[in-house]
Amino acid sequence: MKRIIIIIALSFSSFVFSQGNTHAQGAGKFEGLAMTPPMGWNSWNTFETNIDEKLVKETADIMVSSGMAAAGYNYIVLDDGWMTKERDTNGDLVPDPAKFPGGMKAVIDYVHSKGLKFGLYNCAGTQTCAGYPGTRGYEYQDARFYAKLGIDFLKYDWCNTQGITAKEAYTTMSNALKTAGKPIVFSLCEWGDNQPWEWGKPVGNLWRISGDIYPCFDCEYKHEVGNWSSWGFMKIVDMRKDIRKYSGPDHWNDFDMMEVGNGMTNIEDKAHFAMWCMMASPLIAGNDFRKMSKETLAILTNKELIAVNQDKLGVQGFKYSAEDGLEVWVKPLSDGNWAVTFLNRSDVAKKINFDWKKNTIKDVDFDYEADFSKSVFKLKDLWRNKEIGNTKKNFQADIAAHDVIALKLIP
Ligand code: GLA
Repeated sequence: MKRIIIIIALSFSSFVFSQGNTHAQGAGKFEGLAMTPPMGWNSWNTFETNIDEKLVKETADIMVSSGMAAAGYNYIVLDDGWMTKERDTNGDLVPDPAKFPGGMKAVIDYVHSKGLKFGLYNCAGTQTCAGYPGTRGYEYQDARFYAKLGIDFLKYDWCNTQGITAKEAYTTMSNALKTAGKPIVFSLCEWGDNQPWEWGKPVGNLWRISGDIYPCFDCEYKHEVGNWSSWGFMKIVDMRKDIRKYSGPDHWNDFDMMEVGNGMTNIEDKAHFAMWCMMASPLIAGNDFRKMSKETLAILTNKELIAVNQDKLGVQGFKYSAEDGLEVWVKPLSDGNWAVTFLNRSDVAKKINFDWKKNTIKDVDFDYEADFSKSVFKLKDLWRNKEIGNTKKNFQADIAAHDVIALKLIP
């Protein structure tokens, strides 16, 4: 009897210990993996589930040869559609052998050999949005699978999640990744339905704030099947007015993968890119690199705008003023600099005549201020990479419909 009690006591204490231990290992995201907004490429916007080994390798090659990698883009993320429709007999996910005949590990090794990082996608629900096996109930097993493959980034979606709680589901996966031990950027793709900005900071490194993007300036695209819409990029910018205070280094508001190069005019692509930079959004390209025009490449690799996005202060910009279709967006930068972007929301060309001295910009969320009646800033045009005077004189310029003029202000 005594022996039995001892055995029971021992196994109980080891149960308690292992539970506690697992929890201690697995609590909280990997810190410090995204101190500036992640930059990279994701397959979904252009290819949906039509992805394969050749596409990944060619994209990785061009990411390096085109100068995208040198500009800062380093994650290659495969979105939905990389798996077979069933798990294997062990319950493991199976990379689709028709799409990845050499296996996923070989693809990942290839991407890593180019000095780049690699990401995959899954869903917190029972199935992904495109109907592949979801992670619900397999969180720790899938986390071990990703760790063993050596991925660097996981996008975790929110389809087929009826009856579960977002905070709990994302926390479970975050803990599972931490327990598996391989540092992986955790990208929450919950569309903003359950306010991830309020609870996501210890859980993940970035979180989507909206439904899916659509390649248009300001439209709502209503899908024929299912009751849902995709959104023009300015609709996403306008969608959440009060959440910039939740974004910052290692915990970013994610405005979705970019549609630059996916059918808008070059002017609109410029505006889209400038706004993603101003909002400190992750910069995840979503176009086909193999068909990328010179103009698209120039937009995506504009060093000055990328520096605004990647500024170490990590403060999301905000709308300072809007008058007659002309908006002024501002973003505090390190070293007392500011980025200021004029955006023509209207469908007609406008004239800008901005008297700096009559304006004081106050960032009430992060406590920054620029009072142009007291301090003079030098101006740099970020698209032309050119000094253009200072804030003593009014800023005057013509601006086409849907266009942007982006400036850096240097004290
Ligand atoms: C959701 C996400 C998209 C994409 C698709 C894949 O719609 O928001 O970004 O990942 O699922 O099915």
